[in-house]
Amino acid sequence: MGFFKKHKLSHSVPDVVPGHVAFIMDGNGRWAKKRGLPRTAGHSKGVKTFEEVIELCFNTGVDTVTVYAFSTENWKRPKTEVDFILKLLDEYLTISTEKCLKKGIRMRIIGDRSIFPEKMIEKMNDSEQRTAHLRYNLNVAVNYGSRAEICTAVNKLIAEGKTQVTEEDISAHLYTAEVGDPDLIVRTGGELRLSNFLMWQAAYSEFYFTETFWPDFGKKDLYKAFEKYASTHRRFGGL
Ligand code: FPP
Repeated sequence: MGFFKKHKLSHSVPDVVPGHVAFIMDGNGRWAKKRGLPRTAGHSKGVKTFEEVIELCFNTGVDTVTVYAFSTENWKRPKTEVDFILKLLDEYLTISTEKCLKKGIRMRIIGDRSIFPEKMIEKMNDSEQRTAHLRYNLNVAVNYGSRAEICTAVNKLIAEGKTQVTEEDISAHLYTAEVGDPDLIVRTGGELRLSNFLMWQAAYSEFYFTETFWPDFGKKDLYKAFEKYASTHRRFGGL
């Protein structure tokens, strides 16, 4: 009987998707608080959402996903919360290589990794090296801040002997040199700001802001963001 029924797909796959989408995964703490749970429970659920969302993105035709997992400012949080997020990151790094290898995902860590324990740095390097031949790109921003990234790029250029720099010189020295600029930046959690994320790279990005807390962000929200992106005519400053 079901054969004769007309089904309206609840969320049909969008025809136009961004090549590169970046996520500011905000609202984990508030998601947990609303449920009377500790903030850390929001971060744990946030990791699950992160895994589901990257999978959805790559299945829908996106090539590159960049996520803001830990900023240079996040160190200011209470030590217990910082330690918990770092533990989640470390756990993810432990399993990520195998997962990425299975799914054809090339992993890159963007940000200054030198601050992390040696074991964690090894996992980051290992994951990057072993997935370097794969077609999809996943960039995880850890100890990342856009201002620090631009300063690092300029300092590298100075060390190379440059006395004047071009926009191309700076772009080529950012952590994202190989993956380029995001077409779309999605921020969950209701705040309307960039919070030191990909400021140089966002010059011509489209933005999508939603009140949805990151742990609740799912297929419906993602496709809504893509539909809004598809309906926007991008002119890059031209006509
Ligand atoms: C923002 O929510 C979220 C963070 C600062 C951490 C994001 C980290 C994860 C999702 C886990 C680690 C990621 C990976 C890739 C393993 P918030 O705490 O600022 O939320 P609030 O604004 O409601 O307080």
